[in-house]
Amino acid sequence: MHELVLNDRIVRTDLPSGTTLLDFVRYEQHLKGTKIGCREGDCGACTVLLGTLCKDGAVRYQSVTSCISPLGNAFGKHVVTIDGLALDKTLSVVQGALVAEGGTQCGFCTPGFAVSLTGYCLSCPRPDEDSAIASIDGNICRCTGYKSIERSARRVVDAL
Ligand code: FES
Ligand code: FES
Repeated sequence: MHELVLNDRIVRTDLPSGTTLLDFVRYEQHLKGTKIGCREGDCGACTVLLGTLCKDGAVRYQSVTSCISPLGNAFGKHVVTIDGLALDKTLSVVQGALVAEGGTQCGFCTPGFAVSLTGYCLSCPRPDEDSAIASIDGNICRCTGYKSIERSARRVVDAL
């Protein structure tokens, strides 16, 4: 039995470590906010954050495409899905920026963008517009709402 922290809960699983993190989150934990697009690591719809406890006691987060991430890589770590960004029902800064700038159309890609931008906020020591926009270049929006999403990224940087 392996253990990890999923959003605000400790969860245990005996699923094989080669199960994708995406399938674990969606089908084992029933968190359907994380979307399935290409299943090949190319579209970013399935992005989650993986937090690792470092020797200095800090938890460092990185964005990962959960469709190509084995569950075993998450054992002993903190997995944050889109569902974990607003646990108190208040929009996070990133979510608020996407709403304010109209950064979502059909909404399918939005969880991935929100999680990627959140990962950027957590990991970038000196945020700026260019690097914020670069942090979401692995996310694809089929509705092509990129300009509004870029404005959202700028708004996030301004709020940091
Ligand atoms: S589903 Fe497209 S990157 Fe994972
Ligand atoms: S808002 Fe529809 S895919 Fe991005």
